[in-house]
Amino acid sequence: MISIREIDPADLALFDEWYDAFRAGAIAGREAALVTGREALGYSLRNPGPLKQRIAVGAFEDDRVVGGMLFEYRLTDNLDTVEVEVDVPPAHRRRGIGTALWQWAVTRSAQLGRTIVQTELGVPSSPWPGAAFAERLGFQVEHVEEHLVVPLPYDDLRLEELRSSAGRLDGYELTSWAGLCPPEHQQAYADLHTAMDLDVPTGGMTREVVPWTVEKLEASEARIDRNYLALVTMAHTLAGEPAGYTLIYLPRADAENAQQDDTLVLREHRGHNLGTHLKLANLDQLAKHRTTQRFLHTWTALTNAPMRKVNTRFGFRAVEEHRELELRLPNLRPAARGVILDPDDRILLVRFEFGDGPLWATPGGGLEAGETVVEGLRRELVEEVGLRDFADPPHLWHQEVVADGHATGYDGVLNDYFLIRTDHFTPAGSLTAEELRAENVHDMRWWTLAELETHQGRFAPRELPVLLRRLLESGAPSTPAQLDL
Ligand SMILES: CC(C)(COP(=O)(O)OP(=O)(O)OC[C@H]1O[C@@H](n2cnc3c(N)ncnc32)[C@H](O)[C@@H]1OP(=O)(O)O)[C@@H](O)C(=O)NCCC(=O)NCCS
Repeated sequence: MISIREIDPADLALFDEWYDAFRAGAIAGREAALVTGREALGYSLRNPGPLKQRIAVGAFEDDRVVGGMLFEYRLTDNLDTVEVEVDVPPAHRRRGIGTALWQWAVTRSAQLGRTIVQTELGVPSSPWPGAAFAERLGFQVEHVEEHLVVPLPYDDLRLEELRSSAGRLDGYELTSWAGLCPPEHQQAYADLHTAMDLDVPTGGMTREVVPWTVEKLEASEARIDRNYLALVTMAHTLAGEPAGYTLIYLPRADAENAQQDDTLVLREHRGHNLGTHLKLANLDQLAKHRTTQRFLHTWTALTNAPMRKVNTRFGFRAVEEHRELELRLPNLRPAARGVILDPDDRILLVRFEFGDGPLWATPGGGLEAGETVVEGLRRELVEEVGLRDFADPPHLWHQEVVADGHATGYDGVLNDYFLIRTDHFTPAGSLTAEELRAENVHDMRWWTLAELETHQGRFAPRELPVLLRRLLESGAPSTPAQLDL
């Protein structure tokens, strides 16, 4: 039985186990996967910043982590969007673990009212499991880059050749620094970051660009500096106008990989070989500060012909495609529901009365902001039927219904169903009969399977008699079954 739970990053042993599974899933079959280091990711999860919420989610089997997901969302901009990365180690694939993690992401996105999901994929060859998985979920590829690598230490001979062919740099000056941006360059550097965000091609990815300020730059650099040494070279005109910059990150705890991040030359300064001069100067910094790193990675849009030319001259070799994907979710109302069975396998159902007649459904209800699905289930069951004090229940079914008329103001409903075995009891929740009626609940009672199978009326889920028979005969599925209506 697989269960999906948030990882407490302060539990260092658990975080380590989660990270091992997450990383093993991410790097399998890839020659040059670059995964955020254990220290950097652990720090970021344990010290949440004001701009972004990051959650590590684990898939557990017998209390061992068998898959991981990072679920992230920005807190002050891009408020419709979440980012996910699902990684399952090869030994545990094709058992529905990736899908179970994904279902968690769908429910949490619905709870947050966010409907755009973004993800990134490293694709070294075709066919590729991640690509098949994402396609099956309905993701569209919106942007493709090449992921390129050059071995370190950088080849001195090549550097000499590049220097002589780049010629003199007329009309510009270069300034380099390692670590935090010197105060006198902060405004220019912040403006260049904004220009970079506006200019970098991202295909059809939805992205709200927020201008950089000196304050935001300082806050961002302070966080990054704990785990990465930034090597920056900035170009400006002789009159002091900023013209471009390039940035390499040296992870402080990754002995293998350095990362060539942004390189920007402002439009009006292109065509002067500035990109090459910037990179050459920054490679000099890399030679000085590098410790053991053996590879320098970079990413360039397939459509960015000038940058690809520079990359080739610098000896970068493409190792895989880096794809950015997006999926739009319907706006669903999330709810948690209990499949409550007594020792005689009778199931407790509540009767709803809507305009179109009675409907017998599993007890439960809508999730409130900030509660987990199981917390929502516990609250609802106390209110509705008076059931409390049960162990964390197995997750049976995940149901997404996109249809009018299910929940006002939403495109449909999202129900997660959990199995609760209990002694027989007379349902009596904390809500009064009037309060229940206000929620359209008019009756509740226990049903045998035979009664369900001969009843002529409607159930929610529709196929409840078939689902219950399957559950009683075969037990709970190892990962939640996906239901329609
Ligand atoms: C992609 C990944 C997460 C899938 O994990 P998983 O636990 O094997 O996924 P599931 O078992 O839930 O697969 C769900 C469906 O995805 C598709 N799929 C997954 N792997 C596939 C493969 N190797 N070939 C073809 N289809 C595949 C299938 O439709 C599968 O359903 P099926 O098994 O009933 O045919 C896993 O391969 C992985 O970690 N890859 C590396 C990281 C990555 O690319 N992550 C995805 C981006 S977020």
